[in-house]
Amino acid sequence: MRPLRPATALICLCLWLWLCLAGAAATPAQAANDDLDAALDRVIAVRGLEPLEVPPLVVTPKFRLGQMLFFDPILSGTRDVACATCHLLGRGTSDGVALSLGVRATGLAEERRALDTERIHPRNTMDIWNRGHESVRNMFWDGRVSEIEAPVSRFQTPMMDYLPDGIESVLAAQALFPLAGEEEMLGLPGDRSPPDLPGGHGDRPNEIAQAAAGFDEFEPQRFVAVHDALMRRLLGQAGTPLADWQIAYRRLIASAYPDTLLGTVTMGDLANAIGHFQDLAFVTRETPWDRYLAGDTSAIGMEAKQGALLFYGKGRCVACHSGPLLSDFQFHSLAVPQIGPGIDESGDDRGRYEASRIPRERYQFRTPPLRNVTLTAPYFHSGAVARLADAIALHLSPPAALPNESEVEALQRASFSPMLRRGIALSEAERASLLAFLESLEDAQAESRATIVPESVPSGLPVPALDTDG
Ligand code: HEC
Ligand code: HEC
Repeated sequence: MRPLRPATALICLCLWLWLCLAGAAATPAQAANDDLDAALDRVIAVRGLEPLEVPPLVVTPKFRLGQMLFFDPILSGTRDVACATCHLLGRGTSDGVALSLGVRATGLAEERRALDTERIHPRNTMDIWNRGHESVRNMFWDGRVSEIEAPVSRFQTPMMDYLPDGIESVLAAQALFPLAGEEEMLGLPGDRSPPDLPGGHGDRPNEIAQAAAGFDEFEPQRFVAVHDALMRRLLGQAGTPLADWQIAYRRLIASAYPDTLLGTVTMGDLANAIGHFQDLAFVTRETPWDRYLAGDTSAIGMEAKQGALLFYGKGRCVACHSGPLLSDFQFHSLAVPQIGPGIDESGDDRGRYEASRIPRERYQFRTPPLRNVTLTAPYFHSGAVARLADAIALHLSPPAALPNESEVEALQRASFSPMLRRGIALSEAERASLLAFLESLEDAQAESRATIVPESVPSGLPVPALDTDG
C-alpha cells in the first residue's frame, strides 16, 4: 500500500475528528429522544395503547346511497340544508362557527349567517370522525342517543319504542334526529324553500314540518310523522308522476337493498346507509400519533412526545380522554360558559341532565374524542372558546366566583368536575407540548378526499362543500 501523503493524512485526520465531534454533539439530543421513547413505551404498555384500527374504504351501493343522502339538501324541510352543510370536510367535519345554523340561514362555515336570529341551534356542531368505532356507545353532547344492553331495545333514543326496526348502529340511530330538529333540518310548517333553488325546488311548502305540526315536541310519534313525510318526498307517491330525482333515489335504494321490496323500505334503512357512509368516509387514516403507536418513532417530534407523556401523566387528560378515541364517552362538567339561546325555556343548557333528569348530572357534557381536534374550532358544547390553547387552559383551574353571581351561575360553577378541582399546574412549555401532541392527532388527509364529496346529488340541488373539500 502506498503511504499517505501528509496533506491527505491531515484531511483524513480532520474528517475523523469532525465525525467524532459531530457524533458527540448529536448524542445528548439523541439520548433525550431515546429517553422519551422509552418513557412513552412504558405508557403505551401500561395503557395498552394501539394504533386505531380503521375499516377499509370500500365503495358499495349502500355507501353511495348514504353518501347521496348525507350531501343532498332535499332531506331538509326547506330543501337547502344537508348533513354536510354543518359537517364540512374543509372544517374537519364541523362548521367553523360557535353555534350551528340550519334552516333559515345562508352561506357556509364562517360565512354562514342566520336569516332569523330566533332560529339558532343551541349547540356547537360536533365533529364526526371515527364515530363508527366500536368504542362509541352514545351520541350528542348529552348522550341522548345511546346503545344499551338487551332485553328490551338495543338503543335508547327520544323515539322510545317507535325507533324503526333493524337499526344497525348508534351512528345510524343518530341520523334519524337532525331530520326532525326544527333548527337543524326540519324548519317550521310556514317555511317555504328559498325561491332561487334550481330544478323546481324553489318556493315550495314545507310539507315535512307540516306533517309534524300536530305533535308535541317530545312525542315519539312526531319523529315517525317526519320520517314518513320525508320518505314520501324522496320516493314520490302513487298517483302522482315521479320526478327524475325520485326515480334516481328509487334506483339507489333498490341497488343498496336488493332483497327488500321498495314499498317496505323504511327511514331506518336510509339511516343505516347514512351511518355506513359516515363509518367509512370519516375515518382518520393517517395520523402521526397512530404511526408512532405502530412503531415509527420518527413519526412525531420530541415536543409531541413530551406532550403525550403529559397527556397520559401529569396533565391527567387521560382521566377522561381515554380509550382508542381519546374519550371515555362519559359525562363531566368543565363549567364552560354558556352562550347562545340555550336548550331549555330559561336559556340554559344543563347538558346530560336534559336527557337523564338526574340532578348530579347537571352541566355535564360528553367528553369529546380528540383526533382532528386541531381542525374543529371553536370548542366545547357552546362553542364559547375559539383557540385550542384556551380550551386546554380552561381545564386547568376551577372557575372563580363572579361578582353578583346568579343562582344559575353558582350552580354551574359548583358542577365543575371533582377530578379537576385541585387544578393542574402546567408551565407555558408544557402547555405548548400538549398542543404539539394534539397536533399529532391530525389526519394528514382530513381535508381532501375526492371519493367522499360527490360532484352532484340526485335532487340537482347544490352540494354543500367548501373549495378545500374533495
Ligand atoms: C344545523 C347543523 C347540523 C346539521 C344539518 C346536521 N348536524 Fe349533525 N350535529 C350538529 C350539532 C349541533 C350536533 C351536536 C348536537 C347536540 O349535541 O345536541 C351534531 C351531532 C352529530 C353527530 C353526533 C356525533 C357524536 O360524537 O355524538 C353525528 C354523528 C351527526 N351530527 C351526524 C349528522 C348527520 C348524519 C346529519 C344529517 C342527517 C347531520 N348531522 C345534520 C349539527 C348539524
Ligand atoms: C374531568 C374530565 C376531563 C379531563 C381530565 C380533561 N378533559 Fe378535556 N374535555 C372534557 C369534557 C367534558 C369536554 C367538553 C366540555 C363541554 O363542552 O362542556 C372536554 C373538552 C376538551 C377539548 C375541546 C374539544 C372539542 O371538540 O370541543 C379539548 C381540546 C380537551 N378537552 C383537551 C383536554 C386536555 C389536553 C386535557 C388534559 C390537560 C383534558 N382535556 C382533560 C373532559 C375532560
